[in-house]
Amino acid sequence: MEQKRYGHFDDQHREYVITDPQTPWPWINYLGNEDFFSLISNTAGGYSFYKDAKFRRITRYRYNNVPMDNGGRYFYIKEGDTVWNPGWKPCKTPLDFYECRHGMSYTRITGKKNGVEASVLFFVPLKKWCEVQKLTLKNESSEVKNLKLFSFEEWCLWNAATDMENFQRNFSTGEVEIEGSTIYHKTEYRERRNHYAFYHVNSPIQGFDTDRETFVGLYNAFADPQAVMEGKPRNSHAHGWSPIASHYIEVTLQPGESKDFVFLLGYIENEQDDKWESLQVINKKKAHALIAELDTTEKVDKAFAELCALWDDLLNIYQVKTGNDKLDRMVNIWNQYQCMVTFNFSRSASFFESGVGRGMGFRDSNQDLVGFVHQIPPRARQRIIDIASTQFPDGGCYHQYQPLTKRGNNDIGGGFNDDPCWLIFGTVAYIKETGDFSILDEMVPFDNQPGTEVTLFEHLKISMNHVIENLGPHLLPLIGRADWNDCLNLNCFSWDPNESFQTTENVSEGTKAESLMIAGLFVVTGKDYVALCKKLGKNDEAARMQAAVDAMIAAVKKDGWDGEWYLRAYDFYGRKIGSNENDEAKIFIESQGWCTMAEIGAEDGMVAKSLDSCKKYLECEHGMVLNNPAFSKYIYEYGEISSYPEGYKENAGIFCHNNPWVIIGETLAGRGNDAWAHYSKILPSYVEEKYQTLHKVEPYVNCQMVAGKDAFKPGEGKNSWLTGTAAWMWYTVSEFILGIKPDYDGIRIDPCLPETANDYTVNRKFRDAEYEITIHPNGAQKGVKSITLDGQPVDGTVIPYSAGKHTVEVTM
Ligand code: GLC
Ligand code: GLC
Repeated sequence: MEQKRYGHFDDQHREYVITDPQTPWPWINYLGNEDFFSLISNTAGGYSFYKDAKFRRITRYRYNNVPMDNGGRYFYIKEGDTVWNPGWKPCKTPLDFYECRHGMSYTRITGKKNGVEASVLFFVPLKKWCEVQKLTLKNESSEVKNLKLFSFEEWCLWNAATDMENFQRNFSTGEVEIEGSTIYHKTEYRERRNHYAFYHVNSPIQGFDTDRETFVGLYNAFADPQAVMEGKPRNSHAHGWSPIASHYIEVTLQPGESKDFVFLLGYIENEQDDKWESLQVINKKKAHALIAELDTTEKVDKAFAELCALWDDLLNIYQVKTGNDKLDRMVNIWNQYQCMVTFNFSRSASFFESGVGRGMGFRDSNQDLVGFVHQIPPRARQRIIDIASTQFPDGGCYHQYQPLTKRGNNDIGGGFNDDPCWLIFGTVAYIKETGDFSILDEMVPFDNQPGTEVTLFEHLKISMNHVIENLGPHLLPLIGRADWNDCLNLNCFSWDPNESFQTTENVSEGTKAESLMIAGLFVVTGKDYVALCKKLGKNDEAARMQAAVDAMIAAVKKDGWDGEWYLRAYDFYGRKIGSNENDEAKIFIESQGWCTMAEIGAEDGMVAKSLDSCKKYLECEHGMVLNNPAFSKYIYEYGEISSYPEGYKENAGIFCHNNPWVIIGETLAGRGNDAWAHYSKILPSYVEEKYQTLHKVEPYVNCQMVAGKDAFKPGEGKNSWLTGTAAWMWYTVSEFILGIKPDYDGIRIDPCLPETANDYTVNRKFRDAEYEITIHPNGAQKGVKSITLDGQPVDGTVIPYSAGKHTVEVTM
């Protein structure tokens, strides 16, 4: 397959520049950092929501539609008979120039046609509930240009799920108000909602439309809306059906002249007793105030500068210079950026996650915060408390919770027996980054029930206990509904295609299903927990848990080893999974990752053998597959994993998320060449160079899954953006490859590199200190020989923390 290029990195501006609108899949970006969010594709498709993509969807989007990527913020420019859009879609009129620059929380799309340039900057200003669209029209010709400009947004009736299905009601509820250049969307405001949205432009308008059918025409499309084609707005007022917002502006541009228009898509909440101005007239005070804050180019430019400054600060916390641009741009820009995005969205809204299915995952969000905690620690702190508040008194957890309500999601429920351990993983990362032990004393409820509060430390303790209290016949952890692999459903037996594997009854009565992945996870997080207890002077508790960790290690060595690799699990009946004795799926990646990270049996050569087996059986050109060989048929006792065709998703796809586990295992074993080889295979910048067409999805971020070697088209990517891969790639490269590891009392330096690595420098802000750390690898893959801190030799590998600026030299 010929590999075409659709764009390139611009590291200086921290942008990815797309130069061809017909990318193999919409390549998107995220706007907004805290409350108001938008998804935007390279042709301006996508949607906005407030906090929760399901319950507060502001604009409408059509997933999996024809054509793909349908719905967005569209500007139509009509000059004579030519109608075009700066982002090429939806009219698809050929442009003289097209460029989309996706940057840090902003996107700039520029199109040119017949001597007119239209450039739109999209972003969500800090702490404001709106999306700014600053459109600049410029006449680059020598004639006067008379243009007709139409804006377009379609409102979603708030609940994104019912918006797609309950048409018998929806077609009768839509309501809008029009005031000057502002169109207000107030559907359901008359009853229980106290929020509305608006679409405004900071210029007089010569017309508008708010009813979709009138604007588009029943038998026309976004590509040829009737009002635009005829160059005449209808001034329609929506009553029911599908409310939209479109402004009409006549623009005259002298040669060389340019004009800015600031469009604002805003969201407002009012107090219950202050909702109305008069009967049926909404209270617009807050909307007016928000508009006034952003009604000029100067104000917008200032807000944009603030956003850019925030990103400078965030990214300056960890910067590396290795001289390898492909590595540096991922570490310094895109990997960190993706970590922020996954922290904000968990697995809720992307072009693969529809925003209606899943809220915040218990395990997902704990992992995400490990990639994010260095950026804004207070938000990570709050997240830990939110997550822990959904835990049950026995240590079990809701698997997901809804971001708007922060309540556990009853549809999915709990019983994923790996979940509790992740709370330790997240909390320890937070304390090591910040030194803030006080979080352990926070009072945190169970299942959000007031009056049930215990300390966060107690939550950690019961999390550990939950594993020990749920051991199976081999004294290995019972798997429950599933462990990290949501699709290894060993206690859920289903022949009914109408039930979801994720919610099929969990028949754990009498089960012998045990997980080696949880065993490894328990040892890794158990060691962390023991170290934390010692740090707190809780020596009895440390000893108690050390004994449990030792017992787990013994159990893995005794019943979890298959000869060349770690087993994956035992099934309901106590039969081996992931063993040479199985016909298919003889080896799985998850247990190799976690048991090598836990270094179980390293002294007996188990770790080295396991890592070698990963290379031999799992590795392929595009990364390591999840299991090998792939399942070729459905296995009733295993559940969803065997439901996927070979090479996709959990059935032998390259599930990027778990590749870093093995990579960390490699680094702990000191095998820097192997670690690097695995890492660079799934590093987006390396894939970008070779496989833009094949890979399909955005080349600047990781995707959850790349089709594996058994698939029809190995190397094809899916499920980009929202994946634990982001945090794991970050954790792996920042702490284990480049070797800069926050610890309770300072920074531990312990790189593991390919022997070809050159000297490199990391600038790391850490609490109130700033370290400039230069590493001289001298051809070594692992092993720090000596460290100096501000010229003075340091004992061991931890630079003790002290505020201020420091220079560190490390010789390997
Ligand atoms: C998805 C889920 C994650 C799960 C993984 C493997 O990425 O978000 O929670 O661990 O799939 O099934
Ligand atoms: C499916 C997917 C898995 C995901 C889960 C979440 O099982 O295969 O990756 O984690 O759904 O509900």
